[in-house]
Amino acid sequence: MPAEKVIIDTDPGIDDAMAILFAIVHDDIDLIGLTTIFGNVTTDIATRNALALTELSGVDVPVARGAYVPLVQEALPVADFVHGKEGFGEVPPFAPSGSPVEQTAADFICATVNANPGEIILCPVGPLTNLAIALEQDPSIATKVKSVTVMGGSVAAGGNATPFAEANIWQDPHAARAVFEASWDVTLVGLDVTHKVICGPADFAGLADAAPKLGGFLNDAAQFYFRFHEKHDGFYGCHMHDPTAVISIARPDLFTLEHGPLDVIVEGDKAGQTIKSSDTFRPRANLCMGVDDNAVREVFLSTIKSSF
Ligand code: BDR
Ligand code: CA
Repeated sequence: MPAEKVIIDTDPGIDDAMAILFAIVHDDIDLIGLTTIFGNVTTDIATRNALALTELSGVDVPVARGAYVPLVQEALPVADFVHGKEGFGEVPPFAPSGSPVEQTAADFICATVNANPGEIILCPVGPLTNLAIALEQDPSIATKVKSVTVMGGSVAAGGNATPFAEANIWQDPHAARAVFEASWDVTLVGLDVTHKVICGPADFAGLADAAPKLGGFLNDAAQFYFRFHEKHDGFYGCHMHDPTAVISIARPDLFTLEHGPLDVIVEGDKAGQTIKSSDTFRPRANLCMGVDDNAVREVFLSTIKSSF
């Protein structure tokens, strides 16, 4: 099978870094671009961090800077208490030598999808603002992408940013609604599965031993993430949100799906909650509800270890 051509839309972010490095190393993923968004950090820091990850890995992957604010609502605070002020925990900020491409994230997405009809998988692992803007600019991309794999939302697992909302959807619920309304093939990799995929200090220490450059970096960054989870989730380790979404592209066999139309609550106490919609005219999304968590963890660890 040829490698899947993937654009990751991202707010790096510690688990974003795990997802991006996984995509760079894994043979079945051809990472053709990174587009950046606010969320864990500001869009400028996300852009700098995305460039830094490509340079750390020694790959030439274009980075396109995305939107600075949500579609409709006021910007919410960045999640620096989860990922650290600079995005990679206590790892000091890198100063990458490269620059983002001239195109905006939305322009890059539209141009790349139009140039590769039927081939591109969009994998947003941050707020969905760039995808919503791209759709607005060129609605035809909905019929030209291969599929869209969203890390975000939750069907039955509750929220993490609020009791109802998962963080990526909460940061821009209007954008998420636009993405779920479009007629493209969407797979939701939400908290229903990402809360089941957990790695701990021994896993990351093993990565650092086996693959000092990429694994060592992830191990350093993850220490802050472990402390966040200890405080907020009661275990010393971390949820593997964003890498789980990318792994679902390479290994869909490790997930079980339900299907149905989705909507998002955009206002009030439950803003950012993803809900099953009863509107049968809406496109049906694939909802990841089950996961072979041990296998996903193993795929992640063995892939990063192979990068030495
Ligand atoms: C999502 O929110 C961010 O903090 C993570 O990077 C992930 O994309 C999990 O809810
Ligand atoms: Ca993210």
